[in-house]
Amino acid sequence: MHDMIQRLRPEALDMFGLKASIEQCISAFHLNEQGIELELYIDDKVNAVEEIISIASYRIVQELVNNALKYAKLAKLKVSLFIDSNDIVICVEDDGIGFDPLKNKVGFGLSGVDERARSLGGMVDINTQIDEGVKVLVRIPIPQTQI
Ligand SMILES: Nc1ncnc2c1ncn2[C@@H]1O[C@H](COP(=O)(O)OP(=O)(O)O)[C@@H](O)[C@H]1O
Ligand SMILES: [Mg+2]
Repeated sequence: MHDMIQRLRPEALDMFGLKASIEQCISAFHLNEQGIELELYIDDKVNAVEEIISIASYRIVQELVNNALKYAKLAKLKVSLFIDSNDIVICVEDDGIGFDPLKNKVGFGLSGVDERARSLGGMVDINTQIDEGVKVLVRIPIPQTQI
């Protein structure tokens, strides 16, 4: 059931666009109140990508920020979205405890991120080490006409 709800289109996307929707999603995590510093950069240009890509991008950011808050014991979170050549690039980085990808099995969250990106011809790069935080970089190609 939870999964079904997750698959639905976030309503804010239609009304406010990808940038404002992600800003809203992140502010709902109340990072400030938890003493977590946020560095957020979202290029206005991300609003121009087609819906299928903006839904995927929104869900990817939501899962990665959720993971950071659930596991990382972080002090600082960096989130950025921008257009680089023909790709939308999503980067979510924390300075928390990190994990060992060999020991901590990738769960539904991260495999969902991978699936979403790959179904759109994109890729995910997870960079982490114990005590060195987690940096996840996602690239999804945008059809040329949309940039
Ligand atoms: N930002 C993070 N910091 C530390 N550990 C993480 C982070 N993100 C993911 N992990 C680890 O990777 C595992 C897999 O994450 P995920 O695929 O989202 O599964 P789930 O959230 O369902 O456990 C988590 O259980 C956790 O151990
Ligand atoms: Mg998760």
